[in-house]
Amino acid sequence: MDKKATLKLPDGGNIDFPVLSGSVGPDVVDIRALYGKTGVFTYDPGFLSTASCASTITYIDGDQGVLLYRGYPIEQLAVHCDFLEVCYLLLKGELPNQKQKDEFVSMVTNHTMVHDQINRFFTGFRRDAHPMAVLVGVVGALSAFYHDSLDISDQRHREVAAFRLIAKLPTLVAMAYKYNMGQPFVYPRNELSYTANFMRMMFAVPAEDYRTNEVLVRALDRIFILHADHEQNASTSTVRLSGSSGANPFACIAAGIACLWGPAHGGANEAALQMLDHIGDVSKIGEFIKQVKDKNSGVKLMGFGHRVYKNYDPRAKLMRETCYEVLEELGLNNDRLFKLAMALEKIALEDDYFVSRKLYPNVDFYSGIVQRALGIPVSMFTCIFALARTVGWIAQWNEMIVDPDQKIGRPRQLYKGATRRDVLPIDKR
Ligand code: ACO
Repeated sequence: MDKKATLKLPDGGNIDFPVLSGSVGPDVVDIRALYGKTGVFTYDPGFLSTASCASTITYIDGDQGVLLYRGYPIEQLAVHCDFLEVCYLLLKGELPNQKQKDEFVSMVTNHTMVHDQINRFFTGFRRDAHPMAVLVGVVGALSAFYHDSLDISDQRHREVAAFRLIAKLPTLVAMAYKYNMGQPFVYPRNELSYTANFMRMMFAVPAEDYRTNEVLVRALDRIFILHADHEQNASTSTVRLSGSSGANPFACIAAGIACLWGPAHGGANEAALQMLDHIGDVSKIGEFIKQVKDKNSGVKLMGFGHRVYKNYDPRAKLMRETCYEVLEELGLNNDRLFKLAMALEKIALEDDYFVSRKLYPNVDFYSGIVQRALGIPVSMFTCIFALARTVGWIAQWNEMIVDPDQKIGRPRQLYKGATRRDVLPIDKR
């Protein structure tokens, strides 16, 4: 039997709305007809209770700490797959077999270089610009360079744009870093894997090539996998909203990067690292926790808590494991911040303040330590996130384009401003 929800109207009437069920997760009340039938809107700033679309890509159960890409648990993907397999999965819905993987890798690899004039585009920026400021500009500018993949109604154009974005983001992120450092750009080397190639473009210099280390490459690859998609978060919703007007994919991804830049979204790993630095020593944890619990202090335990996860963020567990492997490989087992992070986590997980509020470590608690150990400076952390999330943004954008229910995104409002009034002559105001 079809489920329905009944809304009691202020004038006494009742109206029924269909209730839709997904394959898993909470039902949704389909209120699309609400305004037409009743003349009222719903009010939900921050989308606390509103599904903005139907999707088949990523599923999160925040209470259980579950994250699935196309049905596969993140824990299995992080262990058994590499990032490009995960990209294939997110874009196409299934994991590739060997032949499909080889073809996909070859397509991505063939697009790693950027148009030579993009080099000159970079030089228009100040060297001390934040790399995210540069990335927003350069990715947006790709639509000025690749005119042959801008027709969003053409499936082939969309596919080529996807390959271009996934392939060129590492090149552009590395260029943003090199420009900031005052070092020459390093061109991609296509015999390397996606992630090894990125690390080389980041860290090689003309005077000295960069030798890739498999443990470190695997760690960064895992960071990419863990950040590849996270359903309808702020930046993904931004990409969808931008795309809903028919904007081209490069412009939409630039919009997603702009949204990701905000400290409430992509910037938390940097804040977690700064917090650990500020605490400084295990002996200071008690005092710090006291401050966190004091509501007037304004101090938060960064890297803890999440709007959706009310359990251990599954990505945080994987990141802690990776952190351990990387530090061991680099002979940094006694890393001060890692030890501090583990001690802080242990104390917080036993403290009633955090337990009662269901505050657990999120992915950002350990990812800053891993990236720092890999030699990635703090100012680049959000660029790394953007690189990894690009595939999720594209998969979601593609899904939206072919969705028969897709409409231009146009939220309503609760107007609380002045009602109609007349303009007075300037001497009477
Ligand atoms: N430290 C201390 N107290 C916290 C923390 C924290 N990190 N997070 C939440 N709380 C407390 C709140 O003060 C509130 O307490 P109260 O009920 O006594 O008022 C309660 O827990 C509920 O918190 P909300 O703010 O309502 O939770 P919300 O879902 O709005 O916020 C958020 C989630 C923004 C992530 C928050 O937990 C936070 O600021 N965490 C630190 C920043 C961080 O790590 N962000 C990364 C998120 S993951 C990502 O973007 C990839």
